[in-house]
Amino acid sequence: MSLLIPLTLCCDVDSFYPEDLSVSWLQNSTVLPEPPVTEQSPGGTYSTRRYYTLSPRQREQGGKVECAVRQPGLKHPVSSSTYLEELVPTGKI
Ligand SMILES: *[C@@H]1O[C@H](CO)[C@@H](O)[C@H](O)[C@H]1NC(C)=O
Repeated sequence: MSLLIPLTLCCDVDSFYPEDLSVSWLQNSTVLPEPPVTEQSPGGTYSTRRYYTLSPRQREQGGKVECAVRQPGLKHPVSSSTYLEELVPTGKI
């Protein structure tokens, strides 16, 4: 195990009602800041990383999963895709 690579944690919250809910992460009792969704690089452009958790049912359905990026001014979305059948366990596409 390396402590030098990021670690994604997951918190499942079950059986709550009504739908409103807020979840925070704390480290040693101190609230962790929300990571910015988008980061600006020194060149002035932006980077972002998005996650999606496929349910067991969605995984079972198989097929192609695609990350499609649209921006104003781009005629067609730019996309990256993978076939679930070929997916390595890290889930990175
Ligand atoms: C959190 O607690 C651990 C163990 O007590 C300590 O070694 C570490 O320095 C603490 N980290 C922060 C960010 O407070």
